[in-house]
Amino acid sequence: MYRSHNCGELRESHINQKVTLSGWVHKTRDKGFVAWVDLRDRYGITQLVFDEDRTSSKLLEQARSLGREFVVQVNGEVIQRASKNPNIPTGNIEVLVEEVIVLNESKTPPFTIEDETDGGEDIRMKYRYLDIRRNPVKENLIFRSKVAIEVRKYLSEEGFIEVETPVLIKSTPEGARDFVVPSRMNEGQFYALPQSPQTFKQLLMVGGLDKYFQIVKCFRDEDLRADRQPEFTQIDCEMAFVEQEDILNAFEGLTKHLLKEIKGVDIESFPRITFDEAMKRFGNDKPDIRFGMEFGELNEVAQHKDFNVFNSAELVVGIAVPGGNSYTRKEIDKLTDWVKRPQVGALGMVYSRCNDDGSFKSSVDKFYDQEDLAKWADVTGAKAGDLICVLSGDQNKVRTQLSALRMELAERLGLRNPEEFAPLWVIDFPLLELDEETGHYHAMHHPFTSPKPGQLELLDSDPGAVRANAYDLVLNGNEIGGGSIRIHDKEIQSTMFKHLGFTPEEAKAQFGFLMDAFQYGAPPHGGIAFGLDRLVAILGGQETIRDFIAFPKNNSGRDVMIDAPAPIDKEQLKELNLKLDI
Ligand code: AMO
Repeated sequence: MYRSHNCGELRESHINQKVTLSGWVHKTRDKGFVAWVDLRDRYGITQLVFDEDRTSSKLLEQARSLGREFVVQVNGEVIQRASKNPNIPTGNIEVLVEEVIVLNESKTPPFTIEDETDGGEDIRMKYRYLDIRRNPVKENLIFRSKVAIEVRKYLSEEGFIEVETPVLIKSTPEGARDFVVPSRMNEGQFYALPQSPQTFKQLLMVGGLDKYFQIVKCFRDEDLRADRQPEFTQIDCEMAFVEQEDILNAFEGLTKHLLKEIKGVDIESFPRITFDEAMKRFGNDKPDIRFGMEFGELNEVAQHKDFNVFNSAELVVGIAVPGGNSYTRKEIDKLTDWVKRPQVGALGMVYSRCNDDGSFKSSVDKFYDQEDLAKWADVTGAKAGDLICVLSGDQNKVRTQLSALRMELAERLGLRNPEEFAPLWVIDFPLLELDEETGHYHAMHHPFTSPKPGQLELLDSDPGAVRANAYDLVLNGNEIGGGSIRIHDKEIQSTMFKHLGFTPEEAKAQFGFLMDAFQYGAPPHGGIAFGLDRLVAILGGQETIRDFIAFPKNNSGRDVMIDAPAPIDKEQLKELNLKLDI
């Protein structure tokens, strides 16, 4: 038997008991006649004591030979600790060691296995198994497991069944590139890894399963960011005989359950805003509503003066920065430089200080008098002591730029409290999105999303205006889920493919199976998928999903531990009929 207890378990009630523990040597302290070893496992740390008087000098010698991260088993007796450690649950006791067995030695680890380690990101990723021994990483993985279990519990109780769908499939368009897998048995042909199980879950609805879910890996070859990995996990769901309202209610239920069970937070009901409103008020389709700084559109009060920058702009829009009047001129100049960085792309920034005496001082005093600036304050909701920041230009661009500024300032002002949770639904997304480079429309969500009732006719005349039965769930400024009511009619689906630029032949080759299925009694259906990694990270108070994935890829899409991707040998290439002569 390797252990009678784990390293986080022993308390004063165990004093005088003989115990066996196994774990890793965390730390050793040697006082000459007595040595202490902190033994660590997943559950905690227990102090071991090796004492010349009470046991033997041979044992003390053995204790001294133990290196960091050695795996050992010890037998001994639980005793009262002379100097107690109130910081750990086992801090009142220690184990007086009677026997020690080295189960495995360890090389000196390349970084310290401590909460605050000396190891940089790269080295920790290379030795991720050692990183996982550290509390912060370990706790994140335990946390993730807890969330996944709650998801399964809730959805099962609601009558959803978990079904696995295949991984070697044909392209499912979700807006990214596919990862492809060559087929040895079918020369020159490739599988695609699913960007999501979208078409399969729709087929399960045609199959009559009614309520489906799956915690499932998805693969997308796209540029990586803190909230994106090339392989990530979805909580993928679909329901038959539902309207948008049913889906929103069902998954608001799941989210509330998770917030309650995992964070102890009760939220009454989630606000809903349309995509258009989100863009107007926050410049963003995933607004963080934990704080204000809502957009104030200033066209009416700022145009038609002599300031041509504003006069020629499609949109003049500002935000009131709480307490921002305390910024020095230098700080405001720095903020202006920040919005002018290529990543944000604004041409400049106009500001107006809201002084405590009710007066204003703006960077454009030449063009605007106190009365004008009072209107700016009115529209942006600025109070005495605030700073109004104003950007202008092309409507879409300027909204995105001001949104970036709003988020940056909120971060700097500490308004993005990770322990506060503000979910909301963004609904009525546009069905199509114009690709500025190609001039073509593509599906904003995916090609299976249904237009809102009565909007099909607009597809020809004004495609950009068509709104979809599509919705996103946003939590603290992050898109954690998205879904839609689907098209279940073959004719409408064909029309959609046509508008997305597929020829009938292409549509048949790529999605013939789905169109066929729609001829055999497809029920009305819809669904949603949550990004599990994102959801877990945000519930855990963070936004970098890598920290909640056991073996993540780095920003170049590499697994530096196993060194993948990697070339394959000539034999394998030949077998797969792949030629690499580029
Ligand atoms: P969508 O593409 O919006 O919808 O994806 C659903 C959710 O998955 C998460 N997500 C990601 N997480 C980490 N890394 C990525 N690269 C990544 N890409 C997406 C996001 C997102 O909200 N089939 C549809 C769902 C449906 O219509 O039911 C779909 O995949 O949190």
